[in-house]
Amino acid sequence: MTAARTTETRTIDFTRGVPATESFPLEQVAECAAAAIGGPGGAQVLQYGKSTGFAPLREWLAARQGVGADQVLLGNGSLQIIEFIGLALLEPGDTVFVESPTYDRTLTLLRRHGARIVGIPMTPDGPDLAALEGALARQTPKFFYTIPDFQNPSGATAALPVRRRLAELAERHGFWILEDAPYRPLRYRGAQLPALFDLAPERTLQLSSFTKQIGPGVRVGSIVGDAAALARLAKAAEDTYITPNLVGEATVYEFCRRGWLEPQLDRLRALYGPRLAATAAALRAHLPEAAWIEPDGGFFLSVTLPEGVTCAALRARAAEGAGPQRRLRLLPRPGRRRPLPAPALLRAHPGADRRGRRAAGPRRRARGEWSVERGAWSEGATLCPTRLRSLRALRSALRA
Ligand SMILES: Cc1ncc(COP(=O)(O)O)c(C=O)c1O
Repeated sequence: MTAARTTETRTIDFTRGVPATESFPLEQVAECAAAAIGGPGGAQVLQYGKSTGFAPLREWLAARQGVGADQVLLGNGSLQIIEFIGLALLEPGDTVFVESPTYDRTLTLLRRHGARIVGIPMTPDGPDLAALEGALARQTPKFFYTIPDFQNPSGATAALPVRRRLAELAERHGFWILEDAPYRPLRYRGAQLPALFDLAPERTLQLSSFTKQIGPGVRVGSIVGDAAALARLAKAAEDTYITPNLVGEATVYEFCRRGWLEPQLDRLRALYGPRLAATAAALRAHLPEAAWIEPDGGFFLSVTLPEGVTCAALRARAAEGAGPQRRLRLLPRPGRRRPLPAPALLRAHPGADRRGRRAAGPRRRARGEWSVERGAWSEGATLCPTRLRSLRALRSALRA
């Protein structure tokens, strides 16, 4: 019985920023939901309310950030708030700078609103400042969308001098920084760096979310920043849904009010930190030819394959008959037009082939991006044999 337990493996989905189901504080959330609806404020929670969100949670977040409650707006996940930014603050044809690569869903939303997207390449220390300054010499964007902490998908964290320079540039050129910070609390090593909102509060709108902290299903995201800009978002929100998901927001508020958030974040760091370390160790051992930025936290790690490896050859090799390659499943599968990005993302070296070159651009869903579809986890935070086999197969495909 004991032997069976020690060899037990659990599967981890590597295809998106999807939290591990075992991270969900199910009983606590159930208790908070019951208190939110069953308590004296229950009727208010089930009624329409202001489009800015559940007031006690706004106030709680405002106090934590040291801002007024009118500088906090809640929405059904942070993505919904990005949609409101598109509706309220963007005109078709406006230029938006993004990191390249970046979170694909944000690109989808920006494109929906007719934004002209300019990609600023990523370095291990965040966006490439020389490229950013070069782009600024040509035009001033309305926004620079950046994920400074444990970026999706590169895993990079913007270094302090980069953050300071970004803050200065935003002030000097008069563009907004849209700081997307859902992974910020999930730092597994090193000291926390100041947020862009701390450095340039007048020029930054900071998005955050309870998706990675409690669970995506609560659908509670927030934005902090300029009250006048948020009032315009609130109008777009009212015109869209009148009221956000007050049941989710009141449940999250109850969770925070009880002091459960910090212990939950401690649990998450203890759960995910060793997994990231094990992934990096396995890559070092089994895929030394590849390059990647070693993340200090968050969910994402991107692997860049060596120069000369083409996606087409890799796919062909992986699909070959017998041998370990058979166990390697790469996305996109032939015939699928839209590959899935992944935390364990394999990218052909930019310029390796046509697809690889496209992967280097701001189009996150470029066809040159590859992901190992699934991984499995064994007790003790080492990668399980299936996953190691995938890495070995990939290595042998690289050498072919
Ligand atoms: C950078 C980034 N922003 C936003 C989100 C989505 O957050 P939410 O569930 O709050 O809409 C994700 C989820 O993967 C993400 O990686």
